[in-house]
Amino acid sequence: MTRKYSDQGDQITAAMIRASKRYEAYWDRSEQAVLARFERHVGAMGADALHCLDAGCGDGRLLPTLSRLFARVSAIEPDLERCAAAQRCVDHHDLANVDLRALTIEDLPDAERYDIIVCSHVVQHVPLRSLDTVLACLSRALSPGGVMLVMTCHSTDGTDRFVRSFLRDGKTIEEDVAQAQFDALFDEEGVLPIHFFTRDSLQCLAKSHGLGFGQFGVFHLEKSAYPLWLVPNADRLVNCVPALQRKHGRDLWVFTTHE
Ligand SMILES: C[S@@+](CC[C@H](N)C(=O)[O-])C[C@H]1O[C@@H](n2cnc3c(N)ncnc32)[C@H](O)[C@@H]1O
Repeated sequence: MTRKYSDQGDQITAAMIRASKRYEAYWDRSEQAVLARFERHVGAMGADALHCLDAGCGDGRLLPTLSRLFARVSAIEPDLERCAAAQRCVDHHDLANVDLRALTIEDLPDAERYDIIVCSHVVQHVPLRSLDTVLACLSRALSPGGVMLVMTCHSTDGTDRFVRSFLRDGKTIEEDVAQAQFDALFDEEGVLPIHFFTRDSLQCLAKSHGLGFGQFGVFHLEKSAYPLWLVPNADRLVNCVPALQRKHGRDLWVFTTHE
């Protein structure tokens, strides 16, 4: 099944990140540190013999990295335009070990299994009515002994947060909505619905699908944490102190495995 993604050209997300060039540079660096950690982790598993799924690959941003790391990469993306952009990325970089399909996670064939799954910035954009199915499909698709990297939005409020985000005069506006209103946002043109998870709520959800948390961290410290994010290794500092980790980080990452 194909499905249109509401943030065309990632305009809402890009405007949220923009605002200061210094923040943009930090934003990239912060995620690169997570990916470097992931690379070390899968490197120890013998990544060059493993099959990886990029679940919701968008425009294929991560495909050159995944293609370099793994023996084979299968990528799925339900939005046809984004899938076409991912194909252009595959062609441009000549990624011979990558195959791509226009597919949702929910429509992955039952029999498919992957050693590694990367689900990057996807689950925060899944309606609550589909979240259990998405997690069940990811859990089923992960081979025994496999590892899934999930990156998603992190709530620093102590409870999950639901947000209606949209562009006004070139700026991203984020309005909190009640949980009960979240799924209706997916019918609104030009609105990107975002679900921010607490560590506990995501861990509970994963557990209910037989997945346990391994290494965990937060990244993308909020702009409001300025000047913290200018400090060298600010992410590392925040992740060393549980109280800071709960209070900071727009995004979280976790390595999950079958329990
Ligand atoms: C913010 S983008 C992230 C893209 C890419 N993973 C990255 O990190 O750049 C979210 C992507 O998830 C895709 N997506 C949303 N729901 C999905 C689902 N149920 N199954 C697979 N992909 C989904 C969207 O179409 C969109 O391309």
